[in-house]
Amino acid sequence: MTNQTVPKTAKLTFGDQELDLPVMVGSEGEVALDIRQLRAKTGAITYDPGLGNTGACQSKITFLDGEQGILRYAGYSIEELAQKSNFVEVMWLLLHQQLPTAAELEQFTHEVTHHTMLHENLKQLFSSLPKAGHPMAVCAAAVGALSTFYQNASANSPQQNWIDAVRLLAKMPTIAAYSYKHSIGQPFMYPRNDLSYAANILHMMFATPCEKYEPNPVMARALDLLLILHADHEQNCSTSTVRTVGSSGANLFASVSAGISALWGPLHGGANQAVIEMLMSIRDGKRSAREFMELAKKKDSGVRLMGFGHRVYKNYDPRALILKKACYDVLGQLGRKDPLLDIALELEQIALSDNYFIERKLYPNVDFYSGIIYKALGIPVEMFTVFFAIGRMPGWIAQWLEYQRDPEAKITRPRQIYMGATPRAYGQVEKR
Ligand code: ACO
Repeated sequence: MTNQTVPKTAKLTFGDQELDLPVMVGSEGEVALDIRQLRAKTGAITYDPGLGNTGACQSKITFLDGEQGILRYAGYSIEELAQKSNFVEVMWLLLHQQLPTAAELEQFTHEVTHHTMLHENLKQLFSSLPKAGHPMAVCAAAVGALSTFYQNASANSPQQNWIDAVRLLAKMPTIAAYSYKHSIGQPFMYPRNDLSYAANILHMMFATPCEKYEPNPVMARALDLLLILHADHEQNCSTSTVRTVGSSGANLFASVSAGISALWGPLHGGANQAVIEMLMSIRDGKRSAREFMELAKKKDSGVRLMGFGHRVYKNYDPRALILKKACYDVLGQLGRKDPLLDIALELEQIALSDNYFIERKLYPNVDFYSGIIYKALGIPVEMFTVFFAIGRMPGWIAQWLEYQRDPEAKITRPRQIYMGATPRAYGQVEKR
């Protein structure tokens, strides 16, 4: 259907009632039925578990077409941004939905570089947690705790929100690196303002006070690319969580802390860790690639081909295509080989010629190849999802800010279809 042929309303017949539902058309042709009057006029609600058919907001930040495998940030293709931009510029793009001028970029780079330190007292939070605790839990706690250091966050004014956005973008790498240093018992490394955003992350992760450390530029560029590719992905599970928490009026730090928790799950951002563990189990001979694939097709095995399939993409995830090529580039530039890449390629090749995966339109997603690059950079497996969170931070913030400005925004409060017991009399405990 072209924009011209989309009808203005959709007719709903419900019993003897007829309702004209207004039709909305997005700037890329997405068609939606506006059902806001549905319950008031008919008494009925809609049923959509997982919300796969539900548009919860209008947004100008990110467009993705899952059928065609297209992803754009504010109109700019992910392929072009990956090639020509850098993560700090992409942060600005998502926050403002336009590219910065040279002066704006310089000022913004200065801001996110000069807010990187954490309050010294926050260090105690890291030391109070078990070293073996998952870093995603540590990061969620530390980000939530920022609202105790910046209590004005709850003022929710545009100026305050901007300051807090900058703080969060600047401090997230420090929080992430501290969570790692704490887990291995090394001293925290303060950020270095002379380094780029990505190089500073490598410094805080891998430097020690005992010797000089200069981040490898190839590694810094590879990390920057990973961060760009993860920066936003419209209304995914963690972003919807951030918007939902923000819809109650909770401040930015509290909302993003909830988003980090949502990202942690293995069906979402946690899949990058699960993929590498899956590849390692095949490398270590637990079972062959073919045996694993047979298991992944059996519903009762509890095994899935991690890094494959997506709620929206029914085609190759464009980020996975970029990352697959980047695996070769980064390993080549670093002069390394990784047998995990060969195993990943074998799994992909089996999947793409197997009817189970073809019929269900299951293709590699962003997590399938990202772990091989993280591993080449020396990032430990348990930190993979934390790095996803660093990358997703501008997206979460941009979506949270958009929600705050949206005149149609309301507290998120879905309904349910109650299927439980109907009214019954309470019996005293001794008579039950
Ligand atoms: N391996 C094997 N089978 C799969 C896989 C997979 N990775 N993904 C989906 N399927 C099957 C399902 O069993 C289901 O089969 P059925 O129709 O016979 O019941 C069908 O494909 C549809 O899958 P759903 O789970 O209904 O699809 P949904 O959109 O709800 O889930 C999800 C998408 C969660 C990403 C899923 O594909 C999955 O679990 N993938 C593996 C985990 C993963 O890589 N997650 C990262 C996603 S990207 C991100 O969040 C950053």
